[in-house]
Formats: sequence, C-alpha cells, structure tokens
Amino acid sequence: MTELNKIAHKILEKGKGILAADESTGTMTKRLQSVNVESSAKNRILFRETLFSSKGTSDFIGGVILYDETIRQNSSDGKSIPNLLSEVGSIAGIKVDTGAKQMAGSPDEKITEGLDGLRERLKEYSKLGAKFTKWRGVYNISKKYPSKLSIKSNAHALARYAALVQECGMVPIVEPEVLMDGNHSADDCFNKTSEVIKKCFEELVLHKIDLSGVILKPNMILAGLESKNQISNEDTAKLTVKCLRESVPKEVPGIAFLSGGQTEIQATKNLNLINKFNNTNFIMSYSYGRALQQSALKHWAKDTQDIKGTQAVFDHRAKMCSLAAQGKWSSELENK
Ligand code: 13P
Repeated sequence: MTELNKIAHKILEKGKGILAADESTGTMTKRLQSVNVESSAKNRILFRETLFSSKGTSDFIGGVILYDETIRQNSSDGKSIPNLLSEVGSIAGIKVDTGAKQMAGSPDEKITEGLDGLRERLKEYSKLGAKFTKWRGVYNISKKYPSKLSIKSNAHALARYAALVQECGMVPIVEPEVLMDGNHSADDCFNKTSEVIKKCFEELVLHKIDLSGVILKPNMILAGLESKNQISNEDTAKLTVKCLRESVPKEVPGIAFLSGGQTEIQATKNLNLINKFNNTNFIMSYSYGRALQQSALKHWAKDTQDIKGTQAVFDHRAKMCSLAAQGKWSSELENK
C-alpha cells in the first residue's frame, strides 16, 4: 500500500465519509443569509467548529474539506483547525481550485481555474496540516452541452491539479460534477456523466497519476430537476453503479458522492441503495456539503449558542449517512 492509498482508505474507513465544509466565503454568506445569520468570520468559524468538534465528526467523518479561510482559523480554545480535526480522529483537506469561470470559446459553460501558483499553495496547505485536496469541475446538460471542449479542458485541468497534489504527497479528490439543473432525462445524465468520467481518467493516466491514491467525487445519476420523467431511487442507484463500474479504473480505492442539491433524505436513501447494489470493489461513500449540514444550520440559526443541540442534529445526519454508506440505513431509523 502506498502512503497515498493509505490516506484514501483512512478517510473512507469503516463506513466513514467526508464532510464538504469548503463553501467559499461567497457561498457561505448565501447559506448564512438564508437562515438570517450575519456572515462574519466569527460566525463562519463558530458554526464550523460546532460541527468539527461533534461526536458525529469523530465517529462518522474521516475527512473534512476546508476552505482557505477556515484552515487558517483557530478554534475557540486556540487550536488550529487541522489540529482540532486530528484530535477527533478526522483528516483535514482543502479546496484548492479558485472557482468555475465562464469558458472562452463556449461562454455558456464553465472552466475551473486555479493552476497558476498551485504548487506553492499546496506546499503551504501541506504545512498547515492538509492531507488531501479538492478540485471541482462543473458541467451542465442540455442538447448541446457539455461540449467536447468543456469535457476535455476540465479533465485536463483536473489531471494537472491531481499531478501537482500527488507530487506534494496529498490525495486529490477529483470532482467532475454534472449538474442536476435542466429538464434532461436520467439516460442523458448517465451518458454525459460516463463520458465526463472516462475523459477525466484518460487525462489522469496521461498525467501519470497514481490511481490508487485518488478519490473520485461524482454526481449520482438523476433526471434533471425540471424533467417530468423522474426515475425511482432504485433506478438511480442501479444506473449510478453501472456508470461507475464502466467508467472508473479498478485501481481507484473509493468514490465519495456529492449531494448536489438533493434533500438530506434523498441523498441518504440513494447512497444506501447504491451500496445495496454495489457489485464493484470501490468503497462508495459520501462527501456531502448541503446533505450533511442543512438541518444543523437551520437549528443553529435559531440559537447560535446552542452547540449541543446543533451537534445532536448533525450527529444524527452523519450517522444516517454512515449507515447508508454500508447499505444499513432504513427510513424508520430517521425518527429514532
Ligand atoms: P453538496 O453535497 O452540497 O453538493 O456539496 C458537495 C461539494 O463539495 C460540491 O463541490
């Protein structure tokens, strides 16, 4: 086992998954404003520290993806956030892309930026305690899209990112997110997601990435949000497993899904079924942002000093996701 493979396994061991708490300050501000809490640096770290120091993180979260601001902040008792995470048995990760920007040549699509100066930034993040990283490419589905240009250029950027990350001794999370927006069918999502993932691995291989030290973070296969032809959770799970079995090289140790705007229950139920139908050797777990934090954020917003109450809400969600990552979840457990 290489060092990178060990880190990837440690993050996803024993039904654990990843908490994506790497919202940029702009996105976090929207999340806080949606529950009428002021988006100050103090409030941002207060909410995040509440989650990071919970039993749920210790029991069910193998890794936390941080944002640049958070990895430099301290907990209320003066610990660095990577140290706090390490004390509760979780590993610090860091989002290193600088966002998806309008793509020249295809202005309705996006290309993710952040390669310039990345080697130096990675060295600094590694010194600050990060052991893994995230880069997200985004793709929208319509008749014309995603274009070959977007599929190729985002895959190329993801591979260049992954090469620099492994050179620095960290595990890259490779996140090609095919968005849920639109009225496309689940078949369209299956076909486009398969094409996107295959191109990513073609580029990763070309860039000599150690695939045993990579975690893939894909979307599940769903019909577009505005589509009249929604499919069952069972079909989502079967199509998702089929897509990954056909598109992901077997050396990859783990897959950690994004929730992408699914409700907490939907994301949990689908992950549970995916694990029931999983006929691959990949660990299939979660790397949720909204589907782990939404209820906790709503609870916290009512009283930002209610640390215990907020943690209880988060602990429950994290436990449900962990059961789903083992195919052991059922809806009755939600009310216990
Ligand atoms: P969601 O689970 O809210 O989609 O966030 C995951 C993520 O990290 C998106 O980049």
